[in-house]
Amino acid sequence: MRHNWSVLCLCLLWLSAAAAAQEVLEREPLAAEASNLLSYIAVDYGDSVKNGEIQDNTLYQQQRRYLARALQLVRQLPDKPGRAALENSVLELDVAIAEKRDGELVRRRANAAADRLAALYQLQRSPAEMLPSAGFAESLYDERCANCHGAGGGGRGSAPGLRDPQRMASFSLYDLYNILDPTVDSVHGPRIDGDLSSRQRWALAVTVANFAVAGAPPPAPELARRYPALIGLPGMATARPVELPAEAAQALMWWRGHPERVRALEHPLARADGLLQLAETAYRAGDNAGAYHKLMLGYRQGYAPLREQLAERDAPLATQLAEHWQALRTAILGGAPNAEVIAAFQRLRAALTQARARLEPPARNERYTLWAALLFAAAVALGLLLWFGLRRRKLSRL
Ligand code: HEC
Repeated sequence: MRHNWSVLCLCLLWLSAAAAAQEVLEREPLAAEASNLLSYIAVDYGDSVKNGEIQDNTLYQQQRRYLARALQLVRQLPDKPGRAALENSVLELDVAIAEKRDGELVRRRANAAADRLAALYQLQRSPAEMLPSAGFAESLYDERCANCHGAGGGGRGSAPGLRDPQRMASFSLYDLYNILDPTVDSVHGPRIDGDLSSRQRWALAVTVANFAVAGAPPPAPELARRYPALIGLPGMATARPVELPAEAAQALMWWRGHPERVRALEHPLARADGLLQLAETAYRAGDNAGAYHKLMLGYRQGYAPLREQLAERDAPLATQLAEHWQALRTAILGGAPNAEVIAAFQRLRAALTQARARLEPPARNERYTLWAALLFAAAVALGLLLWFGLRRRKLSRL
């Protein structure tokens, strides 16, 4: 009898998980379509209005239609705390456009509304797998896109070119990816074959991002240390260069066009943290299988390579981390209550931050280096003094 109960419980669990997954599937395209429209508004509005005057009425009317549609989509999304604020931010954007406000203000508001939407509805804006190189989708681009957009994104006929750095800086890699989904993008719609896989669309987004920086020299490695979030996922996929300080913007434009060249610069524990962030987003969206996959990927690609090194340096922390990984795994698999799983995510991420600090070379080393440099300088100075002294003596003897 007890056995029957547990089977029944399992079935119910499975059914509720399936229902949650179905809900994710249903609302994701709505949110993604709204995000797509907002990104077009952010990019295009500046060309349609200048100094409070309409420059291009067709484009301006298009913005207004896009916004009306975005508002309609937001209203169709399931109600939850925060939805009213999201709706307000879209309405404020509508007022700004109706009043023909400044381009930069509208761009910032449109992007802020898109980010709020993504956070509220747990839009998955980054792949979990590493981004492929631009070359990966080159032939696909030639086959499916070059007809309209020209070789190397040079533009052709009525379709726009894809290598204007200023314009491309307004799109995140995710925005480009979104443009290639016919269920989300009404601009391309059926002009793009719907059979592209998600992997192919990410690869095409990288190919397109590469056009704007083709032939440009790589940014200084120093910048990768200064902006670590931009050389890994999800940052590389979600950040819009235009919103960043100039040096970071320029670097991101290059990095996202050459993901294979940046991979080696990313700290494995930063990769683990990025994947945990993605896993948490998937979990919050009700996608437990996706969350589990990302969690395991984070373990294998981010944590495993450094596990032994950490155990040598701080065995108790390594043991604690092993427990945290295991606890989170079990919590997700066993369908533990939401709050418990989220807390487990937070504990694991905090411990990983600690591990990262423990693996930094100890500060002592830096002091040794400094001393060594000082001693070396002193030795050189002494040597020079002696040499000069000897020369002087020789000269005076002559
Ligand atoms: C049948 C023609 C056609 C094909 C094929 C096509 N596009 Fe487009 N694409 C367009 C047009 C037209 C626009 C501009 C729409 C607008 O702005 O109103 C566009 C817009 C874009 C944009 C946004 C550019 C911007 O500055 O706003 C990107 C990115 C893009 N396409 C990428 C691609 C990729 C990648 C492919 C191949 C998978 C592709 N397109 C296939 C016609 C096409």
